[in-house]
Amino acid sequence: MSRITIQTKEKRFPVAPDLYGLFFEDINRAGDSGLYPEMLRNRSFEDSIPPERCTLNEDGSVFTTPMGWSDQFNNGEGLKKWMHDVPPTPIPAWYAEHAEMRLDAAERLNPKRLTALKVAFETNGMIYNIGYQGIPLKKGESCHFYMFAKSVCENAVLQVAIASEDGTIQDQTEIMVKPGCYERYDSTFTATADDFKGKLLIKAPEACTVCFGFTSLMPSETYKGHGMRKDLMELLEHTNSKFLRFPGGCIVEGFTYETAMRFPNTIGPVWERPSHVLMWHYRTTNGLGFHEYLQICEDLDLEPMYVINCGLTCQGREPEFFEGDELEQLLQEALDAVEYAIGDASTPMGRKRAEAGHPEPFKLSYIEIGNENSGEEYYWRYKKFYDVLKAKYPQIHYVSNTHTEHAGLPTEMADEHYYDTPEFFLENTHMYDNYDRKGPDIFVGEYAVTVGKVATLRCALAESAFLLGVENNQDIVTTTAYAPLFQNTDYTAWYPNLIAFDNHRAYGIPTYHALSLLAGNRGKEAVTLNTETDLLHRIPCGLPAISSTKDGLHVRNVTINGQPADISCLLEGKFIKQGDEYITASIQPEREKYDSPGANFSIDAAFAAFGSNTDNCCTFEAEIQSTPDNPFALAVWCHHPQSVFRIDETTDPDKLEMDSMRCFKWTVNDHTSSVSEYYYKRHTPMGDNVMIDTSVSEYHHYKVVTREDGFDCYIDGELVHRANLPNYPAITASASVTDDEVIVKLVNITDRVQPVEIALDCEVESDYRAEILTSAHPEDENTLDQPERVSPVAQTQSGAAQKFTYQAPAYSLNVLVLKRK
Ligand code: AHR
Repeated sequence: MSRITIQTKEKRFPVAPDLYGLFFEDINRAGDSGLYPEMLRNRSFEDSIPPERCTLNEDGSVFTTPMGWSDQFNNGEGLKKWMHDVPPTPIPAWYAEHAEMRLDAAERLNPKRLTALKVAFETNGMIYNIGYQGIPLKKGESCHFYMFAKSVCENAVLQVAIASEDGTIQDQTEIMVKPGCYERYDSTFTATADDFKGKLLIKAPEACTVCFGFTSLMPSETYKGHGMRKDLMELLEHTNSKFLRFPGGCIVEGFTYETAMRFPNTIGPVWERPSHVLMWHYRTTNGLGFHEYLQICEDLDLEPMYVINCGLTCQGREPEFFEGDELEQLLQEALDAVEYAIGDASTPMGRKRAEAGHPEPFKLSYIEIGNENSGEEYYWRYKKFYDVLKAKYPQIHYVSNTHTEHAGLPTEMADEHYYDTPEFFLENTHMYDNYDRKGPDIFVGEYAVTVGKVATLRCALAESAFLLGVENNQDIVTTTAYAPLFQNTDYTAWYPNLIAFDNHRAYGIPTYHALSLLAGNRGKEAVTLNTETDLLHRIPCGLPAISSTKDGLHVRNVTINGQPADISCLLEGKFIKQGDEYITASIQPEREKYDSPGANFSIDAAFAAFGSNTDNCCTFEAEIQSTPDNPFALAVWCHHPQSVFRIDETTDPDKLEMDSMRCFKWTVNDHTSSVSEYYYKRHTPMGDNVMIDTSVSEYHHYKVVTREDGFDCYIDGELVHRANLPNYPAITASASVTDDEVIVKLVNITDRVQPVEIALDCEVESDYRAEILTSAHPEDENTLDQPERVSPVAQTQSGAAQKFTYQAPAYSLNVLVLKRK
C-alpha cells in the first residue's frame, strides 16, 4: 500500500497564481479555420505565391530559403498529405466553371496585398471556394460575407451564395459590382440545412470580368462578439488557465526576415495586413493578430505572454541572423507592440489600439524574448532586447529561452521545453526538487508526450505526474503550458495537440481534461507531503552499439552473448574494416555545435549498432584500443522512439536515427569512466564518474551485462559501474490547502487499483469530492466521434478521516477535495 502523509500546518509556499497556462501557435491551421473562424481558404488569393526570396523546385512542391532550408509548398496547399481530399486547382481552394481565373498583381487591392484574382466569367459562369474541407453550414445559423471587388468594364451583376456540397443554393444575394476603384460589398447569409461540406459560389448571369481584392466569410455568432470561434473559446475557458503565450513557437522565428512574426503586420484592417507563409507550411493573412490575441486574453481573463522575435530566425532550420537596421527595426517593433498593448490612447500606438475599438489599455504581463533560441547569437541579442525593454517597461516579467543566467546575463524566467516519452515525465517528477532556489523562475513553456502512442490517457497521466512534481516546486516553477494547443484534424502538421477540431466539432485530448482538473483545484498554499510508494521502471529494448567522438578507435572481437556480432546499422561516420578490426572515422569534419549553457551534448564521429538481437538482456563485449582524449562509448538498448511530430512523407519511421537515438551509454575517456542516459544527443548522468587505470594505446576488454533493471560494466573483468535504470513512482501526489479545504492530487500510473493511505494532521469531514480521470484502457483516447471517452467524473465519496485509505483506480488522476472540520 502507498502512504501519503500531509502536514497541513507546514505551509511551504503560496501556490503560483499563473502555474497553468495556454500556449497558442498558428500550427495545424489553428488560426484561420480554427480559433479565427475564417471559412474561405485562400481569402486573399496569395496562397500559391512562394515566400519572398525563396526558390521553388521544378514542380512547385518544395521551396528553399536563401540559407538553404527546404519545406513542402505544393502550390501553396502545404503538406502533400493534406491534399488527399482536395481537387487540384492552380489557385488553392478556388475553382471555376465557365469562367477563367488568374492572379493579377497589377490589380491588387492595396500595396500590402501581393495579388488579386481576376475572373473572366462567361454567361452563367461561376467561381467557388470550398473552404477548409468544406464550408460548415448549420441550419438557422448565419454568416457574414464581404469582398473587395471591381468590375473591369461596366457594372457587373454577381450572385453570391452559400450552397450545399451538391450545389443546392441555401441563401444568396445579388451584388452589383461597380467599375473603377475597389469597393467593399457586404452580405449576410443564413443556412437552411446542415452541410459541413458547403461552398461559397460567385456566379455571373451575364458575361463580365471582375477583380477580387480580398474576401471573407465568418460566422455571425462568435465568442463575446469578438470574432473568435465560440466552441473553441468555450473549451479554452473550461481549462481554468491563467495566461496565454502567443503567437508561437517557431512561427515567431520564421525562416526568413519576411516570414518572422512581425507586430506591424498584425494590426489594422485585416485586408491591409500583409500575409506570409508560416513555418507550418501554409500562408496566414494575419487576421488573428496582436490586437485579437490581447482581446482573447481579456475575454478569457488570461495574463498575456507575448513572444517576440529578437533578431534571428529558427535556429533549427538554417537560420538568418539580423544586425544593424534590421535588428533595430525588430527592437522598435517590440517596443511598439508593448505601447500598443499598454500605452494610453494618447501614445502613437495606443491611439491605433483605440482606433481598433479598445481605448483602454490591455494587460501585458510577460514578454518572452525569442523562441527556442540559444547560443552566442542569442545571448547578445537577448541582452540588448532585455536591457531596452526592461528600462522602459520594468513592470513586465521577461522570459529567456534558455538558462541565460549561466552565461552571466540577467534572467528573470527561464523557459524549458520537454517533448518526450511518458517515461521521461514519470521519471522526472522530482526534477525541480534540487533546482537552485536563488536562480530564475522556471517556465515549462512547452511540454507534451510526443513519442510512441500519443494523446492517450497514459500520456495524460505521465504529464500529470510531472505536473504534480511541479506543484511540489511551484516556488520556482511558476508557469507551465502544454504544447501545441490546436489541431485542425484535416491539416495536421504536428501531433498531438491539446484540442482537436474540424470545421464544426471539437474535443480535448485526455491531457486537456487532466489540465482542467489540475488547474481548477489549486488551493492557496502548498504544504509538506511525503509519499511512500513502489518504484517502477521502464521496459528496456534495442541494440548494443559502439561510438567514438574522434577518428582512430580500434575495435575487435565484438560479441553478443558470446557470439561474434557484426555491424547491423551504421548511424554515423565510418567503421573501416582492416583485417579483424574496425577503425572509426568521421564523415563530416565537424558536426553541428550546441552551446546552450548547461547542456551536456555529445557529438559522435562514428556510431554503429551491432547484431540483430533486440532481446532485452544480453552480454555485449568488445576489445577496444583508443587514442588519447577520444571518449568512446559502449551503448545498450539503442532504439529510436518514434517521435510523432517528425513523421512526414520524407522520414522512414522504422529507421534508427542518430539524431533521435535513445540508449544508455557507458563512456570511457582516458582515465575516467561514466554512465549516462542518452537522448537527442543529450547525456543525463547516472551516477558519479569513476577513475580507471587503462592504457589508451593498448587493447582492453570491455563488457556490458544488461539486467532487467540496469546494466553492469566491466573492464578487463573488473566491475566498474553498476547502473540502475531510472525509476518512477507508482503513486505521485501533491497537496495544497485553503482555509476550509485540503486538496490532494494523486496519479496512479499502475494497472491496478492502489489503496493509498492518506494521513493528515487535521480533522476532515467524512464526505469529500473526488474528481477522477480514468478509462478502461491506458491507451484510450478521445476522437471527434467519441469526444468524451476519456473525461473526468466527479463523485461524492465518504470515509475521509485524519487517516483513511483512498482506493485510487488503475491508471487514474484523482483530485480529492477534503473539507476541514
Ligand atoms: O509546439 C510546437 C513547436 O515546438 C513550437 O513551435 C516550437 O517552439 C517547438 O519546437
